[in-house]
This record gives sequence, C-alpha cells and structure tokens, in this order.
Amino acid sequence: MRSLVISGFMATGKTTVAPRVAARLGLAFVDTDEVLTHEAGCSVAELWTRHGEAHFRHRELALVERLLGDGVPRVLAFGGGTVTLRRARHLALDRAVLVTLTASPETIAGRVPDVAARPNLAIGDPVQRARELLEARANAYAECHIALSTDALDPDGVADGIVAAFERNALCVPLGARTYTIDVVLDAPARLTDAVACAAPSSVVIVSDATVQRARGEALEKALAPLAIQGMRVTLPAGERHKTIASVSTIWDAALGAGVDRDAVLLAFGGGVVGDLAGFAASALLRGVRVIQVPTTLLAMVDASVGGKTGFDHPTGKNLLGAFHQPAAVVVDLSHLSTLPARELRSGLAEVVKIALAVDAPLLEELEANAEHLAAGKLEALLPIVRHAIEAKIRVVRDDEREHGRRALLNLGHTVGHALEAHGGYTKYLHGEAVALGTVAELRLMAAMGFGDAALVGRARELLRRMGLPTDAPAAEIAASWAFVGRDKKRAGAAIRMPMVTAPGEAMVQSVPLRQLEQAVRATG
Ligand code: GLY
Repeated sequence: MRSLVISGFMATGKTTVAPRVAARLGLAFVDTDEVLTHEAGCSVAELWTRHGEAHFRHRELALVERLLGDGVPRVLAFGGGTVTLRRARHLALDRAVLVTLTASPETIAGRVPDVAARPNLAIGDPVQRARELLEARANAYAECHIALSTDALDPDGVADGIVAAFERNALCVPLGARTYTIDVVLDAPARLTDAVACAAPSSVVIVSDATVQRARGEALEKALAPLAIQGMRVTLPAGERHKTIASVSTIWDAALGAGVDRDAVLLAFGGGVVGDLAGFAASALLRGVRVIQVPTTLLAMVDASVGGKTGFDHPTGKNLLGAFHQPAAVVVDLSHLSTLPARELRSGLAEVVKIALAVDAPLLEELEANAEHLAAGKLEALLPIVRHAIEAKIRVVRDDEREHGRRALLNLGHTVGHALEAHGGYTKYLHGEAVALGTVAELRLMAAMGFGDAALVGRARELLRRMGLPTDAPAAEIAASWAFVGRDKKRAGAAIRMPMVTAPGEAMVQSVPLRQLEQAVRATG
C-alpha cells in the first residue's frame, strides 16, 4: 500500500484536510513541518533565520526520505516548499499518491493571520509575494496525481476528492505543465469515462482502426455512454503499412470538416500505430489539441502510449517524421487484451523485456519467473508487470523527455529491429518480433565489439524464446536490411547512438561508428 502526501502552498488547507483524510483511511498522520520543528526545538521561521533556506530544505529532504523509505503507509502533510525539491517530489510520486491543494494568492494572503511568522511570505505585499512564489513553483506543484482547489474551502468535499485519488492509485508522468496520469486497471471502464469527463472537451474525435473497432468498439461505447458525447469516429485501415501521412490527413480532414476547436480531444483507441498517428495529428491540429491515449495492445500499453512520441513512417524508414506531444491522460485497461491475438500479445512482451534489460533488473527477474504465464496472456499475471514496466519507463522519460540522453536506452533492439521491419515491408514481422530479433542481435553485436555484457545475450535470448518470440535473425537478413540502419533517425554523421547494456537493468548510450557495426554484423554471421 502506498502512502498519501498532501502538498500545496502555505494556507491551502493542508493541515485542515490531511488529518480528516488520515482518519478516514485509518492511517497515521504526520505533518513534516511539525516533525522538523520538534526535532530542531524551534519554529520553522527560527530555523530559516538561523541557518537559511538551504539548510532547512536539506533537513526536510532527509525527513521525507525517512518517512517515505520505511515502507509504512501514512498520510503526510508536506511543507509548502517541500515539492520544490526534485528528489522529494519524485519520491512522493514513486512511493505515494501526491495531491496538490491549490488556492488563489488572495485566498492565501487572507488566510495567513500572522505574515511575520511565515518568512517566505513576509517580503513586501503578501498577495504579490504569494503570486510570485506560485508562479515560480507552478511546474513543481503541477507534478502530482491530482490538484484540488480549496478556494471555496469545503474540507469534507476536498477530503472526498483526495480519498478518491488515493483509491484510484494512478501513475503520474511528471513533466511540469505537461504532467499527466496513467490508470492501469483490469476491466474498469469508468476510468476512461472519468478521464474524458475530467478533460471537459468541446468535442471528441475517436481515432481507431477497423480491427480494434470490431473487437473493442462495444467496450469503448460502454465507457463513453454516461457522458452523452457525440464523438466523431475516424476508423483507419489497420496495420503498420498504413502508418502514413495519408492516415494522418484522414484524421485532420474529419476533425476540421466537423469544425472542431482547440478544446477538442482526440481519443486514440488502438495499438501503437493508432496512438502514434492520432498523437501526431493532435500535435499539429489547430497548432495542438489534447490527445487521450487508450491503448488496446500490450505493446502500446507498456511503451507507445507513454512518453509522447508520435509520428508516422516514410518510405525511407520507420518513424522518420513526428513530434513529441504528451497525452493529456492515458487509460490502460488490460481487458482490451482479452481479444488480442496471441501473436500480438507476445510481440508486446518484447518491449517489456527491452525495458527490463535496459533499466530495470527486478522487472527482468519478474519476467523470468513468469514468462510462460505472461506469454499465455494471463491478465492477472500481466497487470503488475504492465504497471511495473510503465513505472520504469516513466523514470526514464521524466529525466529526458526529448531523448537527449538516457531515453535513448529505450531504443534497445530498435536499430536493427526497425531495419528488419522496414526491409520486410512491415508485413514479415510484427513490431515486437522485430524488436526481439533486434535486441538479441544488438546485444550480440555490442558484445562482439567489446562493449556490454556478453552473458546477457544468452539470458535475453532464453527469456524471449520462452515467451514464444523469434530470437535469431540470419546475419544475411540483417546485412540486407543495412541501408535502413544508415537512414535511422538515431544516426549522427557516420555513427549511431545505441544502448549498450553493461549489466542487467543497467545501460549507457554508446556512439558506434556505422562501419564498425556493419563489420561486426558480417563477422557474427
Ligand atoms: N519507445 C521508446 C521511447 O518512447 O522512448
């Protein structure tokens, strides 16, 4: 069970609401400012005056690490500035449900009876100072599971909202103003209903493909029925072959033809192709409208729907055109996997293996302990794995949204994989199958060039084999697909940036000369 952290600027109602919530949840309540003043034997104001803000924040972080690190679930009320510490914020997001209470500068100044006792507010006009601090901290406060206004302070109403967020137990992708939540559930259509209701769109454009529409269309209708939304449907032809500018245009034509405005939401209901196309269409439509990702394949659940990569293919290679456009929300309901063909489900597992090998050793062990159950599509076994894989991806994306560094680790298997996929005309392999082949090939190539952990080649190969995935692409086929590697978007001049796995769950990005890589392909053939 996670803890619950209630955060927010001073005088937003934390100390009024938090004890009520703790009583309702039957959890202990801790106010971090109270603990700090008790331990220091003086008030927060005195601590600031004597030692300065940096010292105070240092003590605050140590306390947060202690309270969120001992595995005991509690309700914590943070100090007003605690979440300005990136590490404290990330700990709260990883180990707790983080709620931000908000209020206007006027409300805040009106609620503070003794401004002198609040060192950070007692600088000039309190309303103006509150406004400045709120602006300076806006991105930090936005990184939360839910923000609730307390301007019209109704402590019970706010407590209801907090308890609901705690029970919902969503994941959060913290990206400042682009922060969003991800629900990971099994057969809970109300989560999608709530996500759309929360977005309060002026209209909804549902982008799907013919296969998904046939298999899961009814489930979508059920989730949207309570909203009485006149959603417009755009049903694209299914398959990677249709991940083209023509499909993007189909979405734009339908949306603009219907006269949508900037408050419209595109709802991407499908696998990775639909998600990427709808996400890209949303990124440019009227210079950007919101997209809600509702993935229906395992691959899209653990990878494509999270992190904001969108785009389409070009005849010279895969995903060569696109944009980063973070979704407004992601709703992952594993019930959609119940109708997914077994081959597609196994294909999605390749992306989970990739994430585990590159950044999460415990996930790798979980996969090894459950490989056959997962490959058989047991939804109860898949649920914690999907959540774990998404958590691992979030940790990467939050540190490197635009792939200037660490995010490139998630491209493991994708350099060779994309080339094989493109060379096969996008019909020979499913994306995940190409990634499985690419992962083994890249681990082997890196080991042959003296980078990386040679023992991992066999381990990865065995895990992928147990999951029913292909593992060994003939070297001649890799060599024949080489032209596509040269056109890969990760190429920089005569080299390409590739992940090098140094130990299970640990990797670094290595710039490898293309010529050296090609020689290794021929030598390992
Ligand atoms: N699919 C890899 C990434 O999102 O970075």
